[in-house]
Amino acid sequence: HQMTPEERAFQERVDRGEKIEPKEWMPEGYRKTLIRQIGQHAHSEIVGQLPEGNWITRAPTLERKAILLAKVQDEAGHGLYLYCAAETLGVSRDELLEKLHSGKMKYSSIFNYPTLNWADIGAVGWLVDGAAIMNQVPLQRTSYGPYSRAMIRICKEESFHQRQGYDIMMKMAQGTPEQKAMAQDALNRFWYPSLMMFGPSDKDSIHSAQSMAWKIKINTNDELRQKFVDQTVPQADYLGLTIPDPNLEWNEEKGCYDFSEPDWSEFYDVLAGNGPCNKERLGARVKAWDDGAWFRDALSAHAEKAEARRRS
Ligand code: ACO
Repeated sequence: HQMTPEERAFQERVDRGEKIEPKEWMPEGYRKTLIRQIGQHAHSEIVGQLPEGNWITRAPTLERKAILLAKVQDEAGHGLYLYCAAETLGVSRDELLEKLHSGKMKYSSIFNYPTLNWADIGAVGWLVDGAAIMNQVPLQRTSYGPYSRAMIRICKEESFHQRQGYDIMMKMAQGTPEQKAMAQDALNRFWYPSLMMFGPSDKDSIHSAQSMAWKIKINTNDELRQKFVDQTVPQADYLGLTIPDPNLEWNEEKGCYDFSEPDWSEFYDVLAGNGPCNKERLGARVKAWDDGAWFRDALSAHAEKAEARRRS
């Protein structure tokens, strides 16, 4: 479609690297895309607390427990900054939550996989948070001001999360043969789901071209997936663990690793609600919302009474 003069002026601002702020004019598609992406991102942070929260009571030492508690609490904070960023686009938090709970909005596929043992908590920190940072560092330069500013703090905290995961993996990999085997097993199960976090391959990514033109996204899904593989292989080598991919090989000519694509039919199946934990995760969020109804009602009743007192 032919750009209107307003759309052209907007695109020129984006091209110059200017940040777009909440009250400024923006194309409806830009607003919608941001609400979708920021909302999905916020939901991922909130749902992402579940697989790790599952292990807080069973962390092997008091120190590990304190660290994991802090990390899971950070994820809650990330969700809240992101809901605030989405709200600046004219959508309410209640609307976003309603869409999550009714299955109309997505959250990251990765959180539909189970955390079966303590090594999985290491793998989640190392690989899942590692993939999240790879995607989020460039988003600090995204064109929408509130989203880019939220990303700065989120990335700082996320890099602490990645290191704590790697630290768990290091302890396990250097532990008893049984512990090392647990670390390898966790890597085996989390490798391909982590690669899926970056989204479908570029040829199947419906939103990438427009999102990149608007600088909502800075890199394509495949670019970030490649960077993640290149960064992670030496880390696995250092741990003495093997990435479960027989085709993984350094490509001298391209200066990066060749690797196997994840099974995309599994990815789409998880998106459709059929992953190992989809029902459990969404069920937990809906229950939390329902269980909190009395508290929201009490807050509203209190606010109404305070308002009535103020008026009389
Ligand atoms: N999990 C669930 N859905 C996904 C995933 C994924 N890993 N990857 C892609 N999708 C969905 C997209 O949302 C889109 O569906 P929709 O149109 O119903 O929204 C569809 O698959 C097609 O994908 P793309 O066209 O490539 O979508 P998009 O341009 O939005 O790219 C990406 C996907 C890379 C995830 C992008 O949205 C993004 O960078 N989001 C911000 C980061 C984020 O959400 N991180 C959450 C996980 S990290 C964490 O919370 C710790």
